[in-house]
Amino acid sequence: MANESNDVYKTRGQWAGHLGFILAATGSAIGLGNIWKFPYITGVYGGGAFVIVYLACVLLVGLPLMMAELMIGRRAQCNPVGAFQKLHRKGSLWQLTGWLGVVSGFLILSYYSVVAGWSMAYIFKALSGFSGSAEQIVGQFDILQNSAGTSFLWHSFFMLLCIGIVIGGIQKGIERWSRILMPSLFLILLALMFYGLFATDGGTAALSFLFKPDFSKLSAEGVLSALGHAFFTLSLGMGAMITYGSYMKKDRSILKDAITVSFLDTLIALMAGIAIFALVFQYGTEPNAGPGLIFATLPVLFAETGPWISVPFFILLSFAALTSGISLLEVVVSYFIDQRNWKRSTATLVLGGAIWFFGMLSAVAVWKVPVNILGENQGFFAFFDVLTTNYMLPLGGLLTCLFIAWRMKDKDRIGEFGSSGKLYSVLKFVLRFITPIALLMVLLHGLELLPFMDYGP
Ligand code: TRP
Repeated sequence: MANESNDVYKTRGQWAGHLGFILAATGSAIGLGNIWKFPYITGVYGGGAFVIVYLACVLLVGLPLMMAELMIGRRAQCNPVGAFQKLHRKGSLWQLTGWLGVVSGFLILSYYSVVAGWSMAYIFKALSGFSGSAEQIVGQFDILQNSAGTSFLWHSFFMLLCIGIVIGGIQKGIERWSRILMPSLFLILLALMFYGLFATDGGTAALSFLFKPDFSKLSAEGVLSALGHAFFTLSLGMGAMITYGSYMKKDRSILKDAITVSFLDTLIALMAGIAIFALVFQYGTEPNAGPGLIFATLPVLFAETGPWISVPFFILLSFAALTSGISLLEVVVSYFIDQRNWKRSTATLVLGGAIWFFGMLSAVAVWKVPVNILGENQGFFAFFDVLTTNYMLPLGGLLTCLFIAWRMKDKDRIGEFGSSGKLYSVLKFVLRFITPIALLMVLLHGLELLPFMDYGP
């Protein structure tokens, strides 16, 4: 086959195996969002009803947007910036969407890596066992967060792993490691879930908390969080799926693969929820602990279960973070490879190094953003988190969605979707009207501009 796709294959790389794309994309989607964030926001917003709304959001916003990104990527055979240029025209303002994605990838990885570093640090804490009073165990997390040196060291280690994998390229780096890490992650989580269900007394309570809806506990705030989380957890809104889609083989069905990835991501989040809440209910703790659920509340419970449970748990968390970290780095690196003709090794070392250096801002908790935002000088960590999750990703998602639905040619869309039947019409309708409205709401909520919400004084 001496055609164009062969040339592209040589210069850009492509997923090799049958499952290559699925494993890598699921690896990107499954991350700290699934194991750290999903359980804690489910706890905060009251359980079952939140889960139902979240599932609806994955279906109506997540899945269509994931298909949109994959279609753009595979059509253009390019990084996000180049993709918008190719599919519209050079100098098109739409390429700003790609830029937004590359910058978001840079910023997200710079703080994501700090949390990932804590996960790795906790593997070792778990090995030596959590002991002492509850206050002491919770206090360990404060100490870690506030110890700039330790946080920075673990952040550096995590970045080194990401760089080491991405430098290997699509098949020999990302795909190979996803093949090892993802099945291991699944097996560990399966074991932890069975432990929660059958070896603790909290299994039944966990199931009913997660799956018995009590709509009286659901707030508008909860619905908007579910919406926001649905596309954060699927790695959408910043071109990660555009990039991974560009390495996808032509004969894969985007519809089927996007359904598989979204399904696996949701499955893992629910399994993590069961494993975690079973422990929470077993020891009579409240489920609404907030962001500290994993690093502060759970270790107190792990003191009872012992290292057989806690060590695998933090390994699981680290694996999940690693496969997401590499996809964040790949977005930035692919821009420099495609658009600036850098060698992969140069691009990975320079950009990985830059993100590592920039991540120092998030690792050092005492450094605060010099400008006063919303009445306080926040730490950089919280600042970058809010900036990307609440503003940049919804905006990127919204623009991507508007682009594919209103600007991209029918021929290009159908070429990637594979057919122009009923399902295609449904997708087009959802991408034109439903998904953008939902994303606009998330964005306006982030800006505290939704008319029907009460944002206080
Ligand atoms: N999906 C990841 C998670 O659930 C986080 C994430 C958001 C991400 N956007 C991304 C990962 C882009 C990789 C690329 O933790």
